[in-house]
Amino acid sequence: MPGDKSISHRYAILAALATGPSTLTGYAPGADCRSTLDCLRRLGVDCTGPAGGAVTLMGRGLGGLRSPGGPLDAGNSGTTMRLMAGVLAGHHFVSEMTGDESLSRRPMRRVIAPLARMGARIDAVDGHAPLTIHGSSLHAVDYTCEVPSAQVKSAILLAGLHADGVTRVTEPAATRDHTERALAAFGGRAEVNGLTVSVAAGQALHARSLAVPGDFSSAAFWLVAAAAIPGSRIEIDGVGLNPSRTSLLDVLRRFGARVDVEVAQDRDGGEPIGRVIVAHERAGQLTIAPDEVPGLIDELPAIAALAAHGGEVRVSGAGELRVKESDRIATLVSGFRALGVEADERPDGFVIGGAPASATCPAGGAADACGDHRIAMALAIAALGAERPSTIEGAEAVDISYPGFFETLDRLVSQRVGA
Ligand code: S3P
Repeated sequence: MPGDKSISHRYAILAALATGPSTLTGYAPGADCRSTLDCLRRLGVDCTGPAGGAVTLMGRGLGGLRSPGGPLDAGNSGTTMRLMAGVLAGHHFVSEMTGDESLSRRPMRRVIAPLARMGARIDAVDGHAPLTIHGSSLHAVDYTCEVPSAQVKSAILLAGLHADGVTRVTEPAATRDHTERALAAFGGRAEVNGLTVSVAAGQALHARSLAVPGDFSSAAFWLVAAAAIPGSRIEIDGVGLNPSRTSLLDVLRRFGARVDVEVAQDRDGGEPIGRVIVAHERAGQLTIAPDEVPGLIDELPAIAALAAHGGEVRVSGAGELRVKESDRIATLVSGFRALGVEADERPDGFVIGGAPASATCPAGGAADACGDHRIAMALAIAALGAERPSTIEGAEAVDISYPGFFETLDRLVSQRVGA
């Protein structure tokens, strides 16, 4: 698997705030994590790579970033924009963060509000990028987030490192905890108490060499393909198994797949890794409830593809999908329909499949990924095993998180028994 996107962003940012050189191996190869490195370079961080997956960053110490000469371009990456906004809020200069068309449509008030409470001024266009961040001395706050979002939590924790006391963030539901674990890996500390995480200001971070685990959210597409397509079995090694990311495994079991997991002994940076084996057994009826959504937020496009080859998937309480790289409820449903898969849109979710067993092989067709990497991959998995070849418009969007996705797909399809 390519390196984990969420963890790569965090390791790069914390390496920049640490003192000394850090080398990160298995750094995520996609465009999003390159955007984070580009922003850090513009902020004065000496950075080499990624070369063969390795990146070396010369940390400038907490509060040590330099005023950039021009705008910082986060590209398509919400994680870059939101996490860097937290870091920049505590630096005493003005910076501008821009993004592509999709990122400029995504909601930024969720980070602007807490950072403003801490004392930063952030100008936005009706709550959207470009953001102009007037960094200043920050006050520690006790903040309760309205939406469960690891990006918002992380932005506040990163700002909290630059504030004047103990900053506390409380989430409405648990989200991925990579920032908390990464802080500890770099010699800092985040205290977790239920849904509340606290960080003390002014912690000295130490440079580290770390290996980034394989990306579970990228693996999700292969795990779903194996679970959905009769006769399939897949084995994936070296993949991140942080429990805040792996709810999909239970979902696949509920759908009817056979799932085996072996957790490895070594855990670099406090992140568990291991091997996952998934095999098709049957196609069931699956309901994803609202309280499961935060733990599956990036896997929901893949989960939709589960029902493209039989069975049914119902998702509700997932309105947050409408403010991702695309409106993922609308783009999934229209894309699946274009491939001949039964799909219905709901205000906060979707229903996929449910056709009688005799009619579960998708016809195939031409579908639009709408510039969204995870939609492109979900459509590809849905199109596997269709009656006729399918075309995915804008399939190059996979480069955001998974360059080489289609080459791997080719390789897997050619290993099919009888292919
Ligand atoms: C991410 C958090 C999630 C996720 C995104 C990556 C992160 O976003 O969808 O792909 O790395 O913190 P939200 O925090 O907006 O839910």
